[in-house]
Amino acid sequence: MTLTLKPLHPVFVAEASGLDLRQLLRADDITALVAAMDRYAVLVFHDQPLSPQEQIRFAEQFGPLNPGLKQIGGQAQRLAEPALIDISNVDADGRPLARDAKKIISGLANQLWHSDSSFQSPAVSYSMLSAVRLPSWGGETEFSDLRAAWDALPERLKRQVESLEAEHFALHSRITILGDSSYTPAQQAALPPVVWPLCRLHPGSGRKSLFAGIHAQRILGMGLAEGRMLLHDLLEYATLPQFRWTHHWRVGDLVIWDNRCTLHRGRAYDLDEPRELRRTTNDEVARTDRAAA
Ligand code: OGA
Ligand code: MN
Repeated sequence: MTLTLKPLHPVFVAEASGLDLRQLLRADDITALVAAMDRYAVLVFHDQPLSPQEQIRFAEQFGPLNPGLKQIGGQAQRLAEPALIDISNVDADGRPLARDAKKIISGLANQLWHSDSSFQSPAVSYSMLSAVRLPSWGGETEFSDLRAAWDALPERLKRQVESLEAEHFALHSRITILGDSSYTPAQQAALPPVVWPLCRLHPGSGRKSLFAGIHAQRILGMGLAEGRMLLHDLLEYATLPQFRWTHHWRVGDLVIWDNRCTLHRGRAYDLDEPRELRRTTNDEVARTDRAAA
């Protein structure tokens, strides 16, 4: 079997088939998958219902796994495997949580455009999201293409933004929708902000990427209000309809995206219905390390 790709969006999304993701991949399949991720940025596999262990084993072939916001603490973990990130609205018995539960707030914050873990350095590369249970309506995931967005920016804006850096903070999205009083000083200090250039070079393609998103809370060297308005503006460019694509989930889908050159957001659904997905996210590793793995 070999990897086969069918474009779903003309530029950055493809349906991928021809691999059984439960098996360890051959070196040339890994190379092909990484090349496909560099050419596109989002790949959709259907009918790959992975167990937690299978998903972890598959993801580990692309670098160490990142724990996500678990580093901040304060939430009981439903999934036994620390490498898995629980993208669900349910409790340990699989029942939808109360609307004011912290996990529900986190899920709502995921409905703001973001790049996973852009609040940490070193960077992360891929996220892989696997659909286990889905609501009867809504709950899609939207993606946007930050390389195409960069290419299309007006020249004046490119020149302005090329040398700017933004500070990204783990709780900025949560605080945006909830206020900061619901996080203890210890939680707010657990993951200190990091700085990323607004224009990042995407290593696999050598292309420039407009690295915006809701974790960016201010621009260095700019007044807070002016910087935030510029961030809003850039986010609007980054998510123009022509750079966007919506994934309508089916149970057993595995979607892989590259956080260095895309943004994504969840869409609303009925919070009284269970929605259960599992995510892994890879820390970025040097290409040479990955090729040797
Ligand atoms: C994520 C995420 C959005 C969604 O898993 O990182 O942002 O649709 N998910 O659940
Ligand atoms: Mn996310």
